[in-house]
Order: sequence, then structure tokens, then C-alpha cells
Amino acid sequence: MKVLVVGNGGREHAIIQSLKKSKKIDEIIAIAGNGGIAADATTVNINVKDIQKIAEYAVENKIDFAVVAPDDPLVLGAVNALEEKGIPCFGPTKEAAIIEGSKIFSKNLMKKYGIPTANYETFSDMQQAFSYLETQDMPIVIKADGLALGKGVIIAETLDDAKAAVKSMMEDKVFGASGANVVIEEFLTGPEVSVLSFTDGKTLVPMVSSMDHKRALDGDKGLNTGGMGTVAPNPYYTDSVAKECMEKIFIPTMDAMNKEGRTFKGCLYFGLMLTPKGPKVIEYNCRFGDPETQVVLPLLKSDLFEIMLAVSEERLSEVKVEFFNKSACCVIMASKGYPESYEKGYEITFNTSRKNVFVAGAKLEDGKLLTNGGRVLGVTAIAKNLKKAIGKAYKKVSKISFINAYSRSDIGERALKAYGEKR
Ligand code: AMP
Ligand code: GLY
Repeated sequence: MKVLVVGNGGREHAIIQSLKKSKKIDEIIAIAGNGGIAADATTVNINVKDIQKIAEYAVENKIDFAVVAPDDPLVLGAVNALEEKGIPCFGPTKEAAIIEGSKIFSKNLMKKYGIPTANYETFSDMQQAFSYLETQDMPIVIKADGLALGKGVIIAETLDDAKAAVKSMMEDKVFGASGANVVIEEFLTGPEVSVLSFTDGKTLVPMVSSMDHKRALDGDKGLNTGGMGTVAPNPYYTDSVAKECMEKIFIPTMDAMNKEGRTFKGCLYFGLMLTPKGPKVIEYNCRFGDPETQVVLPLLKSDLFEIMLAVSEERLSEVKVEFFNKSACCVIMASKGYPESYEKGYEITFNTSRKNVFVAGAKLEDGKLLTNGGRVLGVTAIAKNLKKAIGKAYKKVSKISFINAYSRSDIGERALKAYGEKR
């Protein structure tokens, strides 16, 4: 089988390394991939948003199966374009990807089907949003309706900040058309859990739970980033919480999408907050999380390709989805200055095995791997418990170097604390 993976970050590297374990796959092609992915797949330089070109490439190169990983091409309809040309895919159609592509859609879906989430109102008029804000308690959460590179959520502590956030989205258009409409929602508190799931619209199988670390600095301080590290499983996600989420959130979401005529097939990501009033949905993503994938897939015992094929053929109930009873920790090595400005082009040297080192932002030049992005590497380690996994991941980080490398030093500490342990 010749398999195409669309995407170019650490998540795609983790997907590709996991797919490579399948005996059924002969060749993996990545569009566009990156300098690190090039070690595991043939990379082809086509923009991931150019969905027609991707579909044409897939036909011309006799691709048997395609995996579309990032939000942009999914929301634009990459799966529709590929399937129209007869190429089976893992990933939702654009009709289903709207669950991430429009926060207004997802909030209205949850309200309509009684799926627990923060109370909210939606606005297309700035003055009306301002009037509403004047009646609300602070802090409050402002969200751009559309995709905004993970930056479209602002938690405002004061009325002035809330109004400024609304203005930046609706009038100054900092997220372009994505901010033309906004959601204003209640501020919730509690531990956050990420749960990725496989679903074919008939069956939904949650993967091992995980915990992201979104802020740039230790102690969950600094700016929001795409994610500075992850651990799996998430200690807050107990069996009883899992059961409650399955009954009140996961299955109802799958059913709701079917009822709306938007059957979701692929990886459905639940961003949850375990509030004092029970688990609530903070966000849906229509894809694997990044960097959650970098801890979840290395723990997958079953054949990822078999699962993806079964999802595409709507026979997920027939395949085994098993995870190792171990822990994983992924520490992101970023370029100093990320998520704002940073320098690129420095050589990365490895004094350790590159197994489970997922490359997010690097390019190959004259056989050398050079930094080429904000998040450069996701360094993952697996061990029998979380404490050991954290220790192993940081040991590996210490053996990889490049100029201006920056990592948080406390990935996993909050999770360890929840187990009553210390590093
Ligand atoms: P999102 O991009 O939707 O994942 O939001 C980014 C982050 O903002 C989440 O991971 C939460 O930490 C926070 N957040 C989003 N919505 C809320 C909310 N209603 N209450 C509290 N925090 C929130
Ligand atoms: N790590 C969060 C996301 O992928 O959106």
C-alpha cells in the first residue's frame, strides 16, 4: 500500500512513525513533511492548503489511502477532494470538520443536543457584544468563530480587556474573517483533559487520555502556545470520569453529528474541563492534537493503519484498539522567543537515539538538520510510570542541542502532583 499523509509538523511525524510499524504499508509520502519527516517518508513540496493539487498528486501517483491531519485542509475539504477522485481517506469531510472550523456551529450543536459545555452567546455585531459584556461577571472568555492558529481564545479579567478582545477580533480583524463572529462564554475552572478518539460514525473508541501544557513558561505562565509538552495518561481522567464522558459527551456528539447529516469519520478530539459540576467540553478538534499525538500514538499497541482503514470502511467495531499500560511524556524543544519572534537555521545535533523524537520545525540542508520553526522537536519517552517517563524525556532533551533551544522544565509536574508524587 502507498499511503499519503498530509501535514508538516510533529504530529504528522508521530503518525508516520506509527504507520511505519504496519506490515501492510510499502511506502509513505508526506505533503509537505519536513526535514525530520524526510527520514521516514518521501516528502513532496505541495502546500497543505492546496487541496486540489493534493488530490491531483494522489491520483497521478496512485496513492491507495490518504491521512489528512491538520485542521486547515480538513476544513477546506481535502477529504472531499480526495474522495471525489476515488481515494479512501482517514479524516472528516468538510461538512463534519465544521465541528472545529466554526465554534458557533459546535456551541449550537452542544446546546441543541444537551452536551455539557460553558454557557454562551454568539455575536455578529460589536455593539451588541459590548452591551452583553456589561451584564456579565468577569473573567469571561472571548472566542473567534473560525480557525485562528490556536490563538483565537482570550480570557479577559476585566470589562475593558473583554471589550478590547472583541474589538480586536471584530473591528481590527486580527484573525481575518475568522473573527467576524464571536462566541462569548462563561469562564470555567477545573483540570483540563484531552481525549482523542477514533470514530467511524457508528462506533467511537477513545484513545488514552492526555494533558497538554499550553503556556510558554514554567508554572503555566507566559503566552499561550501550540503546546509545550504533554503527558499520557492524564491522572484526572479516572475510570468514572471516562464513563461519564462516554455517556454524556462522546456518544452524544457522534450521534448529534449523524442527526445533522454530518457523520464524523476520523479522529475526533475532545478538549474537556473537569468542572465542579462535571466534565464539560471546552473545544472540539476535527483531528489529532499536537502535541497530544506525540504521547498517545507511541502508547498504541494496535496497528494504526488497520484502525484507520477500518474507520474509513465504517467497520471500526471489528478491530482491536489497545494501548500499552505505560506512561508517556513529550517535552517540546522550541526556538527561544517562541511563540513570538525567534531565529532559525541552527544545526540540531543528537547524542541520543532519534526514536520517538518527533520533528516539528526543521529542514534538511546539505545533510544537516537545521531549526526552521518555533516548535522544533517533540522529545517523547515511554516508561512504566509517569515519573520515569518524565525523567527519561528530560534526559533525552539534555542530549540534543541547537543554539537558542528552549524547553519548559516542568512538563508533567502537575500530573505527578495529582498522583501525590514529586519529581
Ligand atoms: P481552545 O483554543 O478552545 O482550546 O482554548 C484555549 C484554552 O483556553 C483552553 O485550553 C482553556 O485553558 C482556555 N479556555 C477556553 N475556554 C474556556 C472557558 N470557557 N473557561 C475557562 N478556560 C477556557
Ligand atoms: N494541543 C491542542 C491542539 O492540538 O489543538
